Amino acid sequence: MKSPAGHHFDQVSATLEAHGPVILPALLLCDFGHLAREVERLEAAGATALHLDVMDGRFVPQLTYGPVVVEAVRRAAKVPLEVHLMVEEPERTLADYAQLGADILTVHVEALADPRRALEVISSLGPRAHLALSPDTPVDRIEPYLDACDGVLVMSVEPGYGGQRFNPVAIGKLARLAELRSRSGAAFRLGVDGGIGPETVAAVAAAGAELIVAGSAVIRSHDYAQAITELETIARSAA
Ligand code: DX5
Ligand code: ZN
Repeated sequence: MKSPAGHHFDQVSATLEAHGPVILPALLLCDFGHLAREVERLEAAGATALHLDVMDGRFVPQLTYGPVVVEAVRRAAKVPLEVHLMVEEPERTLADYAQLGADILTVHVEALADPRRALEVISSLGPRAHLALSPDTPVDRIEPYLDACDGVLVMSVEPGYGGQRFNPVAIGKLARLAELRSRSGAAFRLGVDGGIGPETVAAVAAAGAELIVAGSAVIRSHDYAQAITELETIARSAA
């Protein structure tokens, strides 16, 4: 079965796979009083896709938003949406996010009793299935599931808050995953999330990151277009 997101699928392929590393702005620190305007501004600034941080106050200390807000973003946005689920028992809400039109569903290996099953469920619902790992989680923990992943999200900060300092442990993990991918012939996309800015983006792109999430570096800038363009330019020349 395909979700209503199914019609985005070609666009997701075109936008997320065609042109080397891209920046996905994270909405976490945006002005939620003017959510549709923020989405519009980010799209006008050239965002290829948007990254939405769902936090439940349990898997991580902070509580952000759930399906109602993601659905509002879906209505406002034309670009693909990555929904990053930082929640306990994410299995319980996968169908909701697929149904409302998430294009990528990213789940944490640390939160899953059966990662392979969760990835298969996501794929069967329509969205792309991405697996995230926190800074303390070794690549070995996700290696058995790589064949079931459309993408891997390497966290370069402890999940839970925007604006934290980049943890360089992510660089070695990205490089290792890129190597595992080329050795196995698997086709998953490599993502990175946390502490990305002009000083850190070259290193992650050089290590293989393609879907690069940037929250504060974009949202706290005065000019979204300039911030996205600067990060993308640095990433592409380093890749
Ligand atoms: C952290 C979130 C990130 C966050 C990134 O828990 O998963 O997506 O919004 O924000 P920056 O880029 O400010 O680290
Ligand atoms: Zn995130």
